[in-house]
Amino acid sequence: MTFKPAQRIIDIPPYLFAELDRRVAAKRAEGADVISFGVGDPDFPTPPHIVEALREAAGDPSTHHYPSYSGMPELRASIATWMQGRFGTKLDPDTEILPLWGSKEGVVHLPWAVVDDGDIVLCADPGYPVYDVGTRLAGGRPVPVPLRAPDFVPDFGAVRADDAARAKMLWLNYPGNPTGATCDLAVFEEAVAFCKQHDILLAHDAAYSEITYDGYRAPSVLEVDGARDVAVELHSFSKTFNMTGWRIGWIAGAPDVVEALGRLKTNLDSGVFNAVQRAAIAGLEGPRDFLDEQLEVFARRRDIAVAGLRDAGLDPPTPKGSFFLWVRVPDGESSTSFAAKLLDEAAIVVAPGNGYGEFGEGYVRFSLTLADARVEEGMERIRKLAR
Ligand SMILES: Cc1ncc(COP(=O)(O)O)c(C=O)c1O
Repeated sequence: MTFKPAQRIIDIPPYLFAELDRRVAAKRAEGADVISFGVGDPDFPTPPHIVEALREAAGDPSTHHYPSYSGMPELRASIATWMQGRFGTKLDPDTEILPLWGSKEGVVHLPWAVVDDGDIVLCADPGYPVYDVGTRLAGGRPVPVPLRAPDFVPDFGAVRADDAARAKMLWLNYPGNPTGATCDLAVFEEAVAFCKQHDILLAHDAAYSEITYDGYRAPSVLEVDGARDVAVELHSFSKTFNMTGWRIGWIAGAPDVVEALGRLKTNLDSGVFNAVQRAAIAGLEGPRDFLDEQLEVFARRRDIAVAGLRDAGLDPPTPKGSFFLWVRVPDGESSTSFAAKLLDEAAIVVAPGNGYGEFGEGYVRFSLTLADARVEEGMERIRKLAR
């Protein structure tokens, strides 16, 4: 057989980090001591109380069967309580909350439940690449909504009137990947008004809602009056609880949208392992001090990296959210050329900004999910390179 992948596979690029992994492996094979500021995977273990809850639940044979399609009622109730405590939003756990296999799964599948062939999906740009690819896989057409320095708030004025009229969905993400940008409720109020005006579903990706610094607390889009008619929000256990490998998150908000996604998912997957759901409850209901300690570590790394990059003549912002630094490349460089230079001349991996959309060109992203000493060493190499 001569295998030719489906056209939809040919049409999507390899995942950004699959390509970065390949380049890092090649550099390491040359014997280089590579420092990776590439992928954003927290370098801390999952807190012991969550691991222990999994261990216990996995030993209980009642967890060994197909889970409920809509998730354990106890988990949905726990999520509703957590959201009320954190954001003051009162959600119905039966109709307004659905567990996911990680928020990435929801980002990919939500357009399948919302868009028809050729429908437009407005995607924050620069943004998590899965908004664009998930849209394409579902037959939709991604159209960027520019996020520009210094605030990286959506520029709805830049969306053409006929695109807004034909759009079915809008993706936003604060605290933002890759920019680290944060916003206040006014940004969500404007987005809700824009979506109501044009009859668009607002999908807010809140994967980094708990990764914030300097006293800043990220709001939920569902805090906006009337948001529940037009908005859903995706949450993740990955970054808050260091559970990237466990694959669990949730969607909350507009019940008709939650129902449509749920109907799709009953046909695609059979729910998250019940033992993982029980462990997730232990996370939501357990102590938070581990997170506060970690946030101090991330903030310290951020300050080390910001100081180092400034010494090297770059001008990074000091973000109040996420664990990313979104850094303008030096004059005369592109995202790709600067990332290649850092790898070739300093054995440093960063994510080239153009991998996050056309408005990411001219930037690179540093992820601060590596030990302080490696951050220091990386900054020393960049200082040396600048000299
Ligand atoms: C903005 C954003 N959304 C969603 C995800 C996916 O997270 P999860 O592990 O919940 O699938 C990521 C992961 O890096 C992300 O950066």
